Amino acid sequence: TTIEWEAESYDMDGHDTYMHKEICEQADAVDRVLRGRIDDRFATVHLGGLGIDAREARGVRRVKILGCGSAYHAGQIGAQMIEELARIPADAEPASEFRYRNAVVDPDTLYIAVSQSGETYDTLAAVQELKRKGARVLGVVNVVGSAIARETDGGVYVHAGPEVCVVSTKCFTNTAVAFALLALHLGRVRDLSVADGRRIIAGLRRLPEQIAEILRGEEEIKKLAAGYAGAKSMMFVGRVRGYPVAREASLKLKEVSYVHAEAYPASELKHGPLALIEPEVPSVAIVPDDELLEKNRATLEEIKARSGRILAVGHQEQEVADHTIVVPRNEPELDPILLGIPLQLLAYHAALALGRDIDKPRNLAKSVTVE
Ligand code: G6P
Repeated sequence: TTIEWEAESYDMDGHDTYMHKEICEQADAVDRVLRGRIDDRFATVHLGGLGIDAREARGVRRVKILGCGSAYHAGQIGAQMIEELARIPADAEPASEFRYRNAVVDPDTLYIAVSQSGETYDTLAAVQELKRKGARVLGVVNVVGSAIARETDGGVYVHAGPEVCVVSTKCFTNTAVAFALLALHLGRVRDLSVADGRRIIAGLRRLPEQIAEILRGEEEIKKLAAGYAGAKSMMFVGRVRGYPVAREASLKLKEVSYVHAEAYPASELKHGPLALIEPEVPSVAIVPDDELLEKNRATLEEIKARSGRILAVGHQEQEVADHTIVVPRNEPELDPILLGIPLQLLAYHAALALGRDIDKPRNLAKSVTVE
């Protein structure tokens, strides 16, 4: 049953590429992942397919999230949300690494496999290895009835609709939102207060309109992208919540424009990558108004002192940066969902300026179903 896919067609709907169409569909897609799941009375969400009762949810001692590519990065955002909202230690790891390193499989750990297609072989193989060892595995998957959806014990469907472009945009965003729902649910059966539950729910409800607002800034981002398309290499930096955002933005740029890019935690710049900074190597810095704002500003100064160009993405203009893309503020835990969206457009317009084959980048496949 793929009812939710009828809402959107495979038609390009007047867009020149699927990537552009899919970027533009994100407000509707997020609306869909939220629909029917919010419970205002108890300030939580209902996830019908999870298959874990409250007692089991309270017994989870650790969460390990596995995925590849953009799904792995969405899982990193998810791990942080689960730690913050549910206070369960959580981390994400590439599924391909996990399956080959003979990982310790722990009965009190909840494993979560993340995949747009639900068919990525490395992720599926990790699920099968975990199941064989008796672990509890959930899926955060877009394609209903896919292999990973079938092999997991339950999970959360992402409801992004069909994603055709090889590089993931709307599915990445919806996966991050699905993780916010899961984190809220786990939080509310544990120690997250009603007030915080309400705060997160209100934030979730603001997302679609805020995404629409970001997308209305496309023309400006397009102009910026033309200036960065010729870069020799680009550095993406962020701290804590901003770091997975930087990683995904760096991946997006590489995949679709073939401009070399690296992502680093901003705090690690001084331990090596600062040596790369020069005028031909601009930086993109994720600078939300959170408790790390001053730290991030210090990073901007560090880069500027090495005559690096800076594009900041955050909630207010950054004077030290050459340009700032200002995005609407949500709740700090949910801000990562929004901060990456303008950078999808940056990657898209850089690729367009360079004449790349946007929907089918060289050497890549939408889902890698082989070893
Ligand atoms: C391929 C695609 C990536 C994608 C990854 C995981 O490498 O090129 O864009 O993120 O597979 O795909 P999945 O379907 O498991 O999310």
